[in-house]
Amino acid sequence: MKFEDQDLSRINEYVSLAERYIPGRLAIFAIVESAFHELLTAEAAKILVLGAGGGEEIIRLGADNPSWSFVGVDTFEPMVEMAKSRLASSPVGKRSVVHTTAVEQLDDSEFDAATCILTAHFVPDDGSKLAFFEAIRARMKPGAPLAIIDGVGVAGERDTELLRRIWVRHAMRNGVPEAEAAKNSQNFSKISVVSAEREEELLQAAGFKNLVPIFQGLAIKGWLAFA
Ligand SMILES: C[S@@+](CC[C@H](N)C(=O)[O-])C[C@H]1O[C@@H](n2cnc3c(N)ncnc32)[C@H](O)[C@@H]1O
Repeated sequence: MKFEDQDLSRINEYVSLAERYIPGRLAIFAIVESAFHELLTAEAAKILVLGAGGGEEIIRLGADNPSWSFVGVDTFEPMVEMAKSRLASSPVGKRSVVHTTAVEQLDDSEFDAATCILTAHFVPDDGSKLAFFEAIRARMKPGAPLAIIDGVGVAGERDTELLRRIWVRHAMRNGVPEAEAAKNSQNFSKISVVSAEREEELLQAAGFKNLVPIFQGLAIKGWLAFA
């Protein structure tokens, strides 16, 4: 299932819904920003944002870092439009561009860093996910950091199922109705989530090195990986 095949009747509320559903949503941005502070030592940095729709990570990472500029890609036009309209009223907008394209078609490179937040798990593991990671790495400077945060797990496995049931409870505690939360949790088994081990294997097969886990919130895991 693609991102756009979900129930998107509340897409206008994407930003607030994401905060309700994703455990540690704000911590993710804070951790990625701190990681880039540690790793991006040059004065200016050009950052590639995979799945930039909605604009949230560009706005959050850019707000306090005027020397960072952003090139976002996203394949779903309505999410790109949301990003563009939010960026237009943000100071970060002047340092950002968001394209409706797959990264494989992006004619830009030499990125100092990249983010891929809750996006790779929409790319099927049929050769496409590996090609997606390879296309990201090919556009980054050697040794540049990728911060990747993704759903992980294997449907049917005990621990994965427990984490997904807790996901429903967590969303309900944040005000999401039970039926809606349960439906959302079922999306994990419809999209192209893979185990954490498989994600690491694919990142390494694409040439990323020195994987460092930086986040885990229930069935969402994050790493730094170096091009
Ligand atoms: C769950 S949203 C996350 C958006 C943003 N990264 C955030 O955390 O707010 C996933 C986004 O990935 C986009 N997407 C899905 N497959 C993609 C692909 N192959 N390349 C680029 N973007 C993709 C979707 O259109 C959607 O905007």
